[in-house]
Amino acid sequence: MVSKKAEAPKGKLGVMVVGLGAVTSTFITGVLMARKGLAKPVGSVTQYDKIRIGKGDDKKYLHYKDIVPLADLNDIEFAAWDVYPANAFESAVNAEVLKAKDILPVKEELEAIKPLKAAFDKNYAKRLDGDNVKDCKDRWDMVEQLREDIRNFKKETGVERVVVLWAASTEVYVPVDEKIHGSLETLEAAMKADDKEHIAPSMCYAYAALAEGCPFIMGAPNTTVDIPAMWELAEKTKMPIAGKDFKTGQTLVKSGFAPIIGDRCLGLSGWFSTNILGNRDGLVLDEPANFRTKEVSKLSTLETILDPEDQPDLYGHGNDEDTQYYHKVRINYYPPRNDNKEGWDNIDIFGWMGYSMQIKINFLCRDSILAAPLCLDLVLLSDLAMRAGRYGIQRFLSFFLKSPMHDYTKDEKPINNLYQQHTMLRNAIREMGGYPADEEMD
Ligand SMILES: NC(=O)c1ccc[n+]([C@@H]2O[C@H](COP(=O)([O-])OP(=O)(O)OC[C@H]3O[C@@H](n4cnc5c(N)ncnc54)[C@H](O)[C@@H]3O)[C@@H](O)[C@H]2O)c1
Repeated sequence: MVSKKAEAPKGKLGVMVVGLGAVTSTFITGVLMARKGLAKPVGSVTQYDKIRIGKGDDKKYLHYKDIVPLADLNDIEFAAWDVYPANAFESAVNAEVLKAKDILPVKEELEAIKPLKAAFDKNYAKRLDGDNVKDCKDRWDMVEQLREDIRNFKKETGVERVVVLWAASTEVYVPVDEKIHGSLETLEAAMKADDKEHIAPSMCYAYAALAEGCPFIMGAPNTTVDIPAMWELAEKTKMPIAGKDFKTGQTLVKSGFAPIIGDRCLGLSGWFSTNILGNRDGLVLDEPANFRTKEVSKLSTLETILDPEDQPDLYGHGNDEDTQYYHKVRINYYPPRNDNKEGWDNIDIFGWMGYSMQIKINFLCRDSILAAPLCLDLVLLSDLAMRAGRYGIQRFLSFFLKSPMHDYTKDEKPINNLYQQHTMLRNAIREMGGYPADEEMD
């Protein structure tokens, strides 16, 4: 691909987030606090990471902002949609992620962020019961109303560009149906025919965003933009898309740890991951149909890193058919822990002459604290990609995502290995800064 240097940003960047829950309120509060110099955006690679530019005597290590023209945190305006009417301040308080001292200094700005009415269908998240919901004639009308929200936001705030980020609840699993999701024409026809079974509300947000010239990022595991019809729309409108599912806790560890096993040619017979989580996300995921969406996303990580077909001696043992290691993922809703998720991984490996060993990982994390910097990075980098003329699936953003999008109709393989993903990210930044990509992907 011939790469184009990103153009400098003009004016303000609008960030419209679908869902104003724990993740979004933590993200927005952190950005507002960082702007005032009252908090540090720890965990955000766009704010901290340095990349090597040049080689030999000419090499320099520079921050992202010194390589590419990133939007400044002071130039961001926020808006959100939610099923519940709580404003961003109330939502941050309800989420109980942040302490009062980290919310109160930006109380007024947060209170001003009142959620727009959601495009919602209870069949996609049965455990939610809010009434801040649009009244829509059909799915096409849903799209039209969302497009109007985006246009109004631009008019009212004067932002030049908008990025739309999904940080709303995980919807029930919508399997890809070639007849509906296979082309833009059939997708639009299904929206107009109000096909509620195949058109999730999230697809209406994505369609509206792309049609209004806004990049769209899917932070949940929903199949929304991971369908050929949306790729077509992204190509047509020349907009970047990325997804799916923020790679925050257990899967981050998995995609960083699995290469240790793979690179040292150790064997794997099983990997059991379980965790307890007590926030609203955990409540929604307690519903089996919603968990299914998450399970598919979480399971996909290992197979491309530890490939049983490639190394049958090492990864071809474990389950009933004796063809592959046993990989199991569980999420248990457990209210006392709220947003403080605890994850356990039990990894059964084997070494020289097949002798077994075990590794245990216990991650006591904070879900939204891990997700907030990813929201910032994904938003800033999607805006950058748009200004660099990149459109369609942005594979360089796989670093931030559990189940990275790829063109499965062309048998393209996703890249899940964290270190390979980091290489792709660094090379994309170099290219968008006008430097050559110089690390080979193996
Ligand atoms: N925190 C993490 O580590 C992490 C990691 C990966 C993915 N995610 C995903 O991020 C999403 C947000 O997580 P959270 O902890 O903030 O959840 P949350 O339940 O606190 O917030 C989600 C919000 O989305 C709203 N919502 C649901 N459907 C909507 C719709 N159609 N339109 C507008 N709003 C809608 C809900 O009312 C809720 O307030 C979830 O899908 C979660 O699975 C989170």
